[in-house]
Amino acid sequence: MDNQLFKAAVQASRNSYSPYSKFRVGAALLTENGNIFTGCNIENASYSLTICAERTAVFKAVSQGEKSFKAIAVAGSADDDFAKPCPPCGACLQVLSEFCTDDFIIILSDGEYKLSDFLPNRFDKNNLK
Ligand code: THU
Repeated sequence: MDNQLFKAAVQASRNSYSPYSKFRVGAALLTENGNIFTGCNIENASYSLTICAERTAVFKAVSQGEKSFKAIAVAGSADDDFAKPCPPCGACLQVLSEFCTDDFIIILSDGEYKLSDFLPNRFDKNNLK
């Protein structure tokens, strides 16, 4: 499954719209129902409006009624070589954190991680109580 999900992320990166950074990113999000939602980074001439591949995938899934997630694979490359790991940025980790537990799996080119590996002591809805 890891490999299949990572391949889906690489495939999703083909749709990346990244004329400014020229860094193509794809993400593939596996839901508890067994569905896969993919996403790519979409840049904008107003740079800060860029959205990352991971958030594209999460927002697609949630907007289609799914918000229980098992794992996400992320693939990023400037030259079509996806061997170098592309970890999710802080903003994407926080968005994933809204829907995922600490043991949510993040699959990169060099292996499998947990959300808590990248975002320990996270701020979430429990802090609002
Ligand atoms: N990017 C992602 O899509 N996901 C990440 O986890 C890191 C960065 C995108 C944003 C921007 O379009 C490009 O990669 C360079 O930062």
